Amino acid sequence: MHRPLNAMFNQNAFKLGLFSPNCSGGMAVTTVPERWDASWANNLQLAQLADREGIEFLLPIARWTGYGGETDFQGDSLETVTWAAGLLAHTRRLSVFATAHASFMHPLLAAKQFATIDQLSGGRFGLNIVCGWNQPEYAMFGLNLPGDHATRYRYGQEWWEVIKKSWETTAPFDWDGEFFQLRGARCSPQPIGPGLPPLMNAGSSQEGREFAARNCDFLFTVMINPEQGRDEVARIKALAKAQFERELAVFTTTYVVCRPTQREAEEYHQHYAVACADTAAVERLMQLQGMYAQSFPQDMIDALRVQFAGGHGVYPLIGDPDHVANELARIHAAGYAGATLAFVNYLEELPYFAAEVLPRLEARGLRMPAAALPE
Ligand SMILES: Cc1cc2nc3c(=O)[nH]c(=O)nc-3n(C[C@H](O)[C@H](O)[C@H](O)COP(=O)(O)O)c2cc1C
Repeated sequence: MHRPLNAMFNQNAFKLGLFSPNCSGGMAVTTVPERWDASWANNLQLAQLADREGIEFLLPIARWTGYGGETDFQGDSLETVTWAAGLLAHTRRLSVFATAHASFMHPLLAAKQFATIDQLSGGRFGLNIVCGWNQPEYAMFGLNLPGDHATRYRYGQEWWEVIKKSWETTAPFDWDGEFFQLRGARCSPQPIGPGLPPLMNAGSSQEGREFAARNCDFLFTVMINPEQGRDEVARIKALAKAQFERELAVFTTTYVVCRPTQREAEEYHQHYAVACADTAAVERLMQLQGMYAQSFPQDMIDALRVQFAGGHGVYPLIGDPDHVANELARIHAAGYAGATLAFVNYLEELPYFAAEVLPRLEARGLRMPAAALPE
């Protein structure tokens, strides 16, 4: 059952979220002085602005150590569970996700924290599950990143099943699994309901996709271009239907440089992502993504270097408002249910995007004006 109070289930045909504002630098691996400062004050102001503009959700990156370089990209990051709680307490409509690394949190602790946030927000919480890829972070926690991918996803599956059971049964239960042995487990209060908080996963591997198809409402994937994405979306949705008889909405992630003219947008992109790229951090990020994650095709990682500096390697939307709106419409036409956005400086750039691009999406029937969305 989908919960009416969560913006992830509103009537907009194409949903929008902001990705990674909890991390220093956001998604842009650049040394420009206006790069994102992920302070609490900035995050709060941004969440309230996004709430007013009818943006559906905020999605954090759970990052525990930075990527080094001149700026230590993502070296400062607000912890996502407490961040989500704080922002939900100060907003009215938008959904805020926490991103949880299954291995770093006991599932019963996680279940109780998520239920508490869902209670305090009136059902606006969302959960993004990460099953693991970033080896240095595992070393930091004194854990071995299981070498084989399948074990990571089996762990994530059991972790989620414990949480779900604690949310769906009132009587204390015992659990004897591969990874957890629990006695008299329970979680009270449970999420506010009706239904469970929206669940997302962003794995790109076969196991990641199956995890999403089996469990999630939303799968986030990195898109190379909308044409290629179209086949992928169709395949993923077909997998969810055929194997699990489930509907799965597929989202992708983008970064935005929107300026009054195409030329201004391209010049600014060239400035921050080429001339002022934090090259050492870009190399480190690409090296780690290449080695441990399958989000990006291996043979494309080199070609994607500028995109990594521009926005963590995801799909660029660089241009005037017509171009950006057209690109988002193409993404929708390829079958995606929504996209995340990131800006070099979210607070400085979101107002222009909201003023110029959102009305163009409304005119195409992809979204409703913020004033028409339910409070
Ligand atoms: C939109 C999106 C959000 C993600 N968020 C995080 C995150 O916050 N922390 C993290 O360590 N990995 C994050 N990832 C990485 C994936 O969730 C996943 O762990 C990684 O791709 C490895 O899984 P795979 O091998 O199945 O692709 C994200 C990926 C995408 C596309």
